[in-house]
Amino acid sequence: CLVRHYKFNVVMKKATRLCSSKPIVTVNGKFPGPTIVAREDDTVLVKVVNHVKYNVSIHWHGIRQLRTGWADGPAYITQCPIQPGQNYLYNFTVTGQRGTLLWHAHILWLRATVHGAIVILPKRGVPYPFPTPHKEEVIVLGEWWKSDVEAVVNEAMKSGGAPNVSDAHTINGHPGPVPACPSQGGFNLPVESGKTYMLRIINAALNEELFFKIACHKLTVVEVDATYVKPFKTDTIVIAPGQTTNVLLTADRTSGKYLVAASPFMDAPIAVDNVTASATLHYSGALSSAATILTVPPPQNATPIAATFANSLRSLNSKKYPANVPLKIDHFLFFTIGLGVNPCATCATGNRVVADINNVTFVMPTISLLQAHFFNISGVFTDDFPGNPPVQFNYTGTQPSNVQTNNGTRLYRLAYNSTVQIVLQDTGMIAPENHPIHLHGFNFFEVGRGVGNFNPKKDPKKFNLVDPVERNTVGVPSGGWTAIRFRADNPGVWFMHCHLEVHTTWGLKMAFVVDNGKGPNECLLPPPPDLPKC
Ligand code: C2O
Repeated sequence: CLVRHYKFNVVMKKATRLCSSKPIVTVNGKFPGPTIVAREDDTVLVKVVNHVKYNVSIHWHGIRQLRTGWADGPAYITQCPIQPGQNYLYNFTVTGQRGTLLWHAHILWLRATVHGAIVILPKRGVPYPFPTPHKEEVIVLGEWWKSDVEAVVNEAMKSGGAPNVSDAHTINGHPGPVPACPSQGGFNLPVESGKTYMLRIINAALNEELFFKIACHKLTVVEVDATYVKPFKTDTIVIAPGQTTNVLLTADRTSGKYLVAASPFMDAPIAVDNVTASATLHYSGALSSAATILTVPPPQNATPIAATFANSLRSLNSKKYPANVPLKIDHFLFFTIGLGVNPCATCATGNRVVADINNVTFVMPTISLLQAHFFNISGVFTDDFPGNPPVQFNYTGTQPSNVQTNNGTRLYRLAYNSTVQIVLQDTGMIAPENHPIHLHGFNFFEVGRGVGNFNPKKDPKKFNLVDPVERNTVGVPSGGWTAIRFRADNPGVWFMHCHLEVHTTWGLKMAFVVDNGKGPNECLLPPPPDLPKC
């Protein structure tokens, strides 16, 4: 195994998109940022130097961080932010993982422009469990605001309302021609006829689940969230913020140019950015003047496409890559996730939009939870997060008016190696909505999903405990539920939240505290000496 060294200079850089320019926060002046490449079991050292006026922290999304929670990155959860002029060395080992993940800023809304790919190759000499592609390409999907992104969220927090949606989506940093700016170019993906390519697709958007498709080409899904799946063919990929999907693409046409499209998926009556980003799949020899063959993106609320895609995902569950689904469960949790409104004296409408899990709107502490846990600092959090909602109601029916949320920095405590099942039940005082839920520090198995209210008698009988997909971020369907299972084999403090940044900002987040085990390798390591101070 190798040690891989990276240096991330966080710097401002002027960027031009949608025919206008603005300074953006970047890593090394790049948007998307640099790709981290490592092999399974390598150690990665990333020195992050903060040259901007904002506090910064970087999260290595999907990296297990076994015993190294100090390197996980969410601000005020596992570390204090890196202040302007300061630096921090993230030090972690990629144990037992291979595939595509992403890194992103994990503070404020900086991840809008501070994100990039993590490519983890299998150990030397270990092949993929599918034919070796001719070439690999990273495809990062994102969002672009014409205005300053921090100003967008600050304004929303002040008014108590919803922030403006983005002005365009991006594919490898470029929207492609859009009505607002028809002449701008997009990303170009050159291919040779007859060859097979692997696309490592990442959704780094802040607030939008996305559909991704390529005109006249089928995609074979082989991996999600850095776990292998049973290969299946599809026209359309459904990918939520924080998720990654590897697909094989065979260039089975002889020539021409084909549209690559990324468009929003949101099955709820709320505003979304409905501008489709485009790129071009370009066969060698295709004239630059040739017309691009188009494709029609799915309708924004195409839930059947999303459901079919989710139901097609199965763990590879081979001898080499078994699905170790926990069968005996220690903690059965039921989490309602949704949006609500709370009275707000200073807000224009007299109300503020909030979000919650089991009626708890999570409040960020002022020092990191992991430090409070490790050094036994009292008064920072309580470990009484409710495992069930305070009152039962018709979660996906008409919303009762008396469901108020309570502020709290409450965690749920787990013994080392205990097993957990969480039913994530969508609800909402405003409207049901899609919620991509991400758990730090673990992969989980998605053992079931459905529409409407979870039925505790009938639904568990239909759970897939054999080859459910294993991932770190799951799209809970709008007005439906998802059941996940994991083993708490990683001591530390682990954030769980909606990966739509607007919902995280509103409080749709909580954390687990996992105590040390008894064995020598079952303890959280001590913090590094350069851990940032608050
Ligand atoms: Cu990708 Cu807590 O985030």
